[in-house]
Amino acid sequence: MRHLLSVDNLTAKEIQRIFAISEDLKQKFKAGVREPLLPGRVMALLFEKPSLRTRVSFEAGMTHLGGSSMMLGADAGFGKRESIADFSRVLSEMVDVIVVRAKAHETVAGVAQHATCAVINGLTDRSHPCQALADLFTVQEQFGTLEGAKLAWVGDANNVSRSLAMACALTGVAFAAATPPGYEFDEKFLDECRAAGDGVEITATHDPREAVDGASAVYTDVWASMGQEAEQAKRKADFADYQVNGELMKAAGPAARFMHCLPARRGEEVTDEVMDSPYSVIVEQAGNRMHVQKGVLVWLLGAQA
Ligand code: CP
Ligand code: NVA
Repeated sequence: MRHLLSVDNLTAKEIQRIFAISEDLKQKFKAGVREPLLPGRVMALLFEKPSLRTRVSFEAGMTHLGGSSMMLGADAGFGKRESIADFSRVLSEMVDVIVVRAKAHETVAGVAQHATCAVINGLTDRSHPCQALADLFTVQEQFGTLEGAKLAWVGDANNVSRSLAMACALTGVAFAAATPPGYEFDEKFLDECRAAGDGVEITATHDPREAVDGASAVYTDVWASMGQEAEQAKRKADFADYQVNGELMKAAGPAARFMHCLPARRGEEVTDEVMDSPYSVIVEQAGNRMHVQKGVLVWLLGAQA
């Protein structure tokens, strides 16, 4: 049984296949065609944290594909009424795929370990694979190709940036990170990305201007992720020099797009000027969550595309 728990569950070739299915489905959707490739298939969503994009993009996407979805609320008693093993085994008898957003990565891994249907990670403290896939698809769409692209990350070495670093490595996109001292990527993880990337340039610095130099896209995310609210004030001070503003975008060069997984804290990690600029692709990027997750569902559930 295949799952999507982190980007490195996929090969470069599989990512290209998912992108091809996603592109086909996106073009058809834009032309008013919603091909029912997954009729009668059922998706359960289990979320321990809030969500707009992930939940709606999965539910809308599954509806377009002719399947159905159900959001399991607190009444399902996940982690409370019975063991994760019993919960996952029973749920697998009734649904074809489970999307889990969990506080701890181990929780999603636990569901996957016991489920007999496909499991997709809808964000954990460690990774956000669906986000990274949609983001690379967006870069490809913006430039017509991923060849020669460079993605600059300015901010925290968090779930989103870790998945992006690995996705860049697998798709041959150079990845340059600028993080504040004390918030760096783990060197071992960067080495894993380099090994997966086969020659792709993966670099880390404390200097945002150095990271964004020549970037195709400059990407940032909130300084305090969900679950880190208590660190908000400290992080706001520690990340103060890492704001993506008009000046930093100028340093990146005229071709650079601005990207953000959203939700954003305007005025903190990014200014209104950048969010609302013509080079900001945040809305297209969010829309692509749906198109690419449709590709993931079709690919994972094995339907003919
Ligand atoms: N980017 C993202 O995953 O958004 P949500 O938290 O709204 O799902
Ligand atoms: N890093 C953010 C991403 C939200 C989509 C968080 O985990 O809260």
